[in-house]
Amino acid sequence: MGVEKIPIYKPYIGEDESKIVAECMESTWISSQGKYINAFEQNIQKYTGANHAIAVSNGTVAIHLAMLALDIGHGDEVITTNFTYVASSNSILYVGAKPVFVDIDPLTWNLDPSLIEEKISPRTKAILYTNVYGVPGDYNELKRIADKHGLFLIEDAAESFGATFEEKASGTLGDISTYSFFGNKTITTGEGGMVLTPDRKLADKIRKLKNQGNSETVRYYHDILGYNYRMTNIQAAIGVAQLKKIKEILELKAQIQQNYEEGLKDLVNFQKLPDNSSSSYWMCSILFSTIKEKDHIIAKLNDEKVETRPFFTPIDELPFYEKIEDCPISKKISALGINLPSFPALETKDQSRIIELIRNNI
Ligand SMILES: Cc1ncc(COP(=O)(O)O)c(C=O)c1O
Repeated sequence: MGVEKIPIYKPYIGEDESKIVAECMESTWISSQGKYINAFEQNIQKYTGANHAIAVSNGTVAIHLAMLALDIGHGDEVITTNFTYVASSNSILYVGAKPVFVDIDPLTWNLDPSLIEEKISPRTKAILYTNVYGVPGDYNELKRIADKHGLFLIEDAAESFGATFEEKASGTLGDISTYSFFGNKTITTGEGGMVLTPDRKLADKIRKLKNQGNSETVRYYHDILGYNYRMTNIQAAIGVAQLKKIKEILELKAQIQQNYEEGLKDLVNFQKLPDNSSSSYWMCSILFSTIKEKDHIIAKLNDEKVETRPFFTPIDELPFYEKIEDCPISKKISALGINLPSFPALETKDQSRIIELIRNNI
């Protein structure tokens, strides 16, 4: 028998999740009503300190709802990062607005605030930032610029559940913030997401938009064009079970990151955190010096059944976006980086094997 494949990610699920799902099945509350939707929203509010948390069907629709709730649409521009997961920028296209890409900081790989102001126009309505690979964006600067120019700040915290900025939970920093609970996220509900906001009016609007624009008073009457972006009770139940393990998950992931950093510190570069912040260490991410070196290591790890992930393609290089010339750092980082297996149950002996394989082949 050969060595077993080490995947890039595996959800940290077990007995507790099985039991709670079985309970939903027995109760027949399997659709988007049932006690776990409220419970999950309230538990997330308690954990993060958010005023309002609205469970939705995934992290992509969560950002779409943010755009809709802020009335962003045709003729508007949204400043955003060129280095993120495609769903983030797609939400700007969904509402007919224009994404205006800004380059990233070479150390944190997040939207570089010092490059934002030159891209603001009379049409700019919001800044959408991602906490890439779990590392919080430079919130204080982003907030200062947003306030100075009267822009909304939207935080895509899909990858940073559990991270903090100056002791505030990532996911509570935007006028609207969003999470994803996809299978590879810090906590998962299978597919799932959440929208968070400090503002009651926005929260009410988001609840209405996610639920077919239903009138509060007249049944089967819809005041606005809405969507079915609801989460199911089964998904929420899994979320309730997952959130109970959050401390353990974050500790395991921080330890995995620390092991990679110690084992590879003289060979590759790691993502830097802004001051007074903590990462969710969603996916350990490393930068090589050359593309040749990176490709060689990917091939060697693949030969040994270790899965890696390429970094995100710069958004402007996707065929349905306009190409741009002024984001060289995002292109450089994208070309030189990979993600390494970072799931909470990664065994120390397997991680040591990955580290040794990289050390011996670089
Ligand atoms: C930065 C970022 N934004 C948005 C999403 C979209 O979330 P989902 O896959 O739940 O739709 C993801 C997750 O895949 C992501 O990593």
